Amino acid sequence: MQYRDMGSLDLKVSVLGFGAMRLPVIDNNSANIDKEKALKMIRYSIDKGVNYIDTAWPYHQGESERFLAEVLKDGYREKIYLASKLPIWEIEKKEELDQYLNKQLEKLEVESIDFYLLHALNKKRWAKVKRLEILAWLEEKAEQGKIKYIGFSFHDSYDIFSEILNSYQWDFCQIQYNYLDTEYQAGQKGLKKAFEKDIAVIVMEPLRGGWLAQEPPRNVKEIFAKTNKDWNAVEWALHWLWSQKEVSLVLSGMSNLEQVKENIKIAEESELGLLSENDYNMMEKAAEKMRGPISCTRCEYCLPCPEEVNIPEIFHLYNKAKLMGEEEKMADKYYELDDKTRADNCIECQQCEAVCPQNIEIIELLKQAEDFFSEYK
Ligand SMILES: NC(=O)c1ccc[n+]([C@@H]2O[C@H](COP(=O)([O-])OP(=O)(O)OC[C@H]3O[C@@H](n4cnc5c(N)ncnc54)[C@H](OP(=O)(O)O)[C@@H]3O)[C@@H](O)[C@H]2O)c1
Repeated sequence: MQYRDMGSLDLKVSVLGFGAMRLPVIDNNSANIDKEKALKMIRYSIDKGVNYIDTAWPYHQGESERFLAEVLKDGYREKIYLASKLPIWEIEKKEELDQYLNKQLEKLEVESIDFYLLHALNKKRWAKVKRLEILAWLEEKAEQGKIKYIGFSFHDSYDIFSEILNSYQWDFCQIQYNYLDTEYQAGQKGLKKAFEKDIAVIVMEPLRGGWLAQEPPRNVKEIFAKTNKDWNAVEWALHWLWSQKEVSLVLSGMSNLEQVKENIKIAEESELGLLSENDYNMMEKAAEKMRGPISCTRCEYCLPCPEEVNIPEIFHLYNKAKLMGEEEKMADKYYELDDKTRADNCIECQQCEAVCPQNIEIIELLKQAEDFFSEYK
């Protein structure tokens, strides 16, 4: 495994971190983690040198943190840096801050969380952070030893990112970044700005939730063929990131052991500056052809939908249909979904839109998807 600096912090992290948000599950139920498989995967990665594990309050409907307590037994806790996040959207009063952190420590069965993030900051949540004086509270918790390093994860425009970055002496930050999202949210500009300020950057959604791991369309393959590198889609996406000096660590939400092995191998082969200028130019061209009409990354923050609509899967099928020209095949898959999970069950309660980190107009787009697929019924 290779290791990199974390901004001004006196420690080194593995270039690949494990995101515990997309673990294997049983019966398609995200709360029902396949513990045997997931434990093996995470411990395997630690045995191979991965030293950073990322979780959060809502992952796997609250079960990710509880499950990690099991994984980190038998000496594994001491081998890694543990990251978790404060769910700002759940907090209304100052008193609740301690309640959430104490519960997280209890679920994780640890004395301290190494990297503690304000989860998915955006303009509205940043206003709440200021109103409830959450930064002062974080410092108090660091003094008490309940957390070590203070950071935030981010989903909003660059201007808000810049404001947040300049407002506090952060230890680190976490942004969505991959070769499609160079000018989206914090983007490349945000990455460089954080680096200049010596604030470590952790990358999330490096494969855009799996979108960049799929077999690329023919026109994209033709572009990749114009380079001297014989890489698959995952290698292109991950090497693109690790080639950049501003990236400290790339989190991947791996969902089976083969993915863990492959990503570790790519991490070991990674190198600063591995991509040439021509490679970057080619990838910019590839990106133009890889963007689907809906910027969903299947993070599942919108689930569970009270009406059981399977929003991420519907958007994934719609994106594939539009981008890969697989309209009929994707329509077939859409009608194979349990009918109570299809788009026409949406009652427009807006619960999903309030939590979507990508700010997607979910209700309107569900209607569009339903109309589109109904033409192939
Ligand atoms: N703080 C926040 O707001 C926030 C938001 C999102 C994510 N995160 C964190 O960041 C982590 C990383 O983000 P992410 O999970 O979206 O990462 P990602 O790497 O973009 O997507 C993970 C998905 O990519 C696919 N994948 C990974 N490696 C692969 C391989 N070698 N071959 C084929 N497919 C592969 C898998 O999809 P399939 O399951 O379809 O095979 C996997 O579930 C998360 O796990 C979470 O810890 C934080």
